[in-house]
Amino acid sequence: VAALTPDQSLAGLHALVTAGPTVEPLDPVRFISNHSSGKQGYAIAEALAALGARVTLVTGPVSIPALDGVACVKVQTAEEMLAACEATLPADIAVCTAAVSDWRASVPAGSKIKKTGDGPPTLSLVENPDILATLCRHASRPKLVVGFAAETDDVLENALAKRQRKGCDWLVANDVRRGVFGADRNLVSLIDGNGIEEWPEMDKSAVAGKLAERISKTFESSTA
Ligand code: CTP
Ligand code: CA
Repeated sequence: VAALTPDQSLAGLHALVTAGPTVEPLDPVRFISNHSSGKQGYAIAEALAALGARVTLVTGPVSIPALDGVACVKVQTAEEMLAACEATLPADIAVCTAAVSDWRASVPAGSKIKKTGDGPPTLSLVENPDILATLCRHASRPKLVVGFAAETDDVLENALAKRQRKGCDWLVANDVRRGVFGADRNLVSLIDGNGIEEWPEMDKSAVAGKLAERISKTFESSTA
């Protein structure tokens, strides 16, 4: 009978997941964005919901169908994503997988930027808010905050520093040189306060399942 009872170890907990890219307009027809497919974030939202968590997924534009049993908030820009995340608090768990555009146009042009014959325009950019760091320092900080890091060089060294800088509990690092963008498989390392755990290459859904399980174990032991 036990085997037929689904594991609902995250029942009663609220999890916030960010996913996908953000899209930052330059003018009414052009934007800054990135290659994020949203696959890893959607898989994590699904895995947390499967363990009984109430999940709010805040997502940039992706081509993945809506998930059953997951509340989905669709956004375009980093500023919208931050506002949507803050509006879903309080949450017990936050997992930030979104590839937030680091910069946006300081003032998006109201009309299409035209070629003038004098060469390309100079784009003036400003830095976007850091959603993960904001959640980590929030008055209603989720008890467990997990960040992701896409790196091309010195993956573990950068990831260790990034975990400290952001103030998150766990950081999942992946080497984007290995072609994670849009792929179905992922090779990651999980960094927590105890060190680095290298996971074997697996499907993004398996990474999600393993992460959800680890989250559930952490909450079990902290409430025991
Ligand atoms: N992140 C975020 N808001 C931002 C930038 C990043 O929430 N404005 C989150 C991502 O969702 C991810 C983590 O921070 O969980 C790391 O993102 P990454 O782009 O690797 O870190 P940055 O601090 O932006 O550093 P850089 O891009 O320069 O490596
Ligand atoms: Ca970044």
